[in-house]
Amino acid sequence: MDSVKFHSVMLILGIETSCDETALALVQASGNLKTGPKFEVLREVVSSQIAIHRPFGGVVPNLAKREHIKNLPILLKKLLSSNFQLLDSIDAIAVTVGPGLEPALWAGITFAEELGKKYKKPVIGANHLEGHLYSFLLPNKTVNSNVKNQISKIFPAVALIVSGGHTVLLLLKNLKSWKRLGETRDDAVGEAFDKVARVLKLPYPGGPEIQKLVEKLPKSWKDKINFPRPMIGTKDYDFSFSGLKTSVLYYVRDHKKYSKQEVAGSFSGAAIDVLTKKTMRAASDFNAQSILLSGGVAANKMLRERLSQRANENGLEFFVAEHKYNTDNAVMIAAAGYLNILRKKKYKMKADGMLNI
Ligand code: KG4
Ligand code: ZN
Repeated sequence: MDSVKFHSVMLILGIETSCDETALALVQASGNLKTGPKFEVLREVVSSQIAIHRPFGGVVPNLAKREHIKNLPILLKKLLSSNFQLLDSIDAIAVTVGPGLEPALWAGITFAEELGKKYKKPVIGANHLEGHLYSFLLPNKTVNSNVKNQISKIFPAVALIVSGGHTVLLLLKNLKSWKRLGETRDDAVGEAFDKVARVLKLPYPGGPEIQKLVEKLPKSWKDKINFPRPMIGTKDYDFSFSGLKTSVLYYVRDHKKYSKQEVAGSFSGAAIDVLTKKTMRAASDFNAQSILLSGGVAANKMLRERLSQRANENGLEFFVAEHKYNTDNAVMIAAAGYLNILRKKKYKMKADGMLNI
C-alpha cells in the first residue's frame, strides 16, 4: 500500500461501519495542528440500519456486518453519482478500525483496502472516538462556525464523549495530545438511555424517544421522583449509570400507574446532572478554557442546553458539532484520518472492538 503524501489541501474518503450506520464521505482537509485544521464536506451519505435491528431491541453484530457489506458498494456509487473517476483524485481513504463491533468494523476495513488496492490509494485507520472528539472542528451552520479562528481560545479543553458504547472525559492540551481523566465503570450513558427506554416499552434506539417525551413536559415541570445521581460527588472523573438504570426499573415495577413522561424527565435529569457536574468540575480543576461535547448522546437537547449554560456561566467556550455530526458519520472519520496524518499517528489496519482513546 502507498504511504500518505502530505499536501496542503487533501481530499479524503471517509468510511464508517463500526455499529449500525454505513456512512461514506468525501472531505477536503487543509490546515495544521497550530492554526487548526479546516474541513469542507464535498459529499456525504449515511444509511441507517435502525429499522433492521429494532425488532431485536439492539444491534446484532453479524446482521450489521451483512448490511454493511451489501450497502457499501451501493453507497459509494451514490456518493460519487456513479462517477468513479473521482476516486483517482483522492489522497487517502480513512476507515474506522475501532472501537465498535468487530464483524461490522471488518466490513469497512476490507472494503477500504480493496478500494485502496484498486485505485492505488493509501488507507489510514481512524479511531471512532477520535472521530467524535474532533467533530467540533467540522463545519457548523448553527453555532461556532469559525472554530479555526478561535483555536487559541480552546485549550486546555475538557471533552465529554457520550455515545451508546462510551462515556469518557478527556483533558486536551492541544490538538495532538490528551489525557483520559475518567470514564464509565459500567454502562455508557447512551446504553442507559436505551435500556430505560426498553423498560418504558419505547422503541430502539431509546435516546431520541426519551427526548421526545421530555420535550412534551410543561415548562413548569419539576422532578418529583428524584432518582439517584451515582458518583456525582466522588473525587475522580469516572461515571456509573447501571445503578440509575436499576432504580428506574424498580420504580416502574413498584408504581403500576407511573407516567412515562415523568420517568423520562427524572431519569434524563439525573443522568445529565452527573454528566454536567463532573465535566464542570474537571474544567475547573484543570483550568479549562472550553468544553467540547460529542457523541450520539450530544444530540440530547437537555444535555446540550445545561452544559452550554454552565459553561457560559463559568466564562468557558462551549463547542458541539451540528446534530448530524454527533451521531455516527463518515465526515468525522475523514477528519480523524486527517488528524492522524498531521499527528503522524498510525493505527493497525485490524478491527479492534475495544480500541480506546
Ligand atoms: O455515537 P452514536 O451514534 O453511536 C455509538 O457510537 O454508540 O450514539 C448512539 C447513542 C444511542 O445510545 C442513542 O440512544 C443515543 O446515542 N442518543 C441519544 C439521543 N440521540 C441519540 N441519547 C439521548 N438523547 C438523544 N436525543
Ligand atoms: Zn459513535
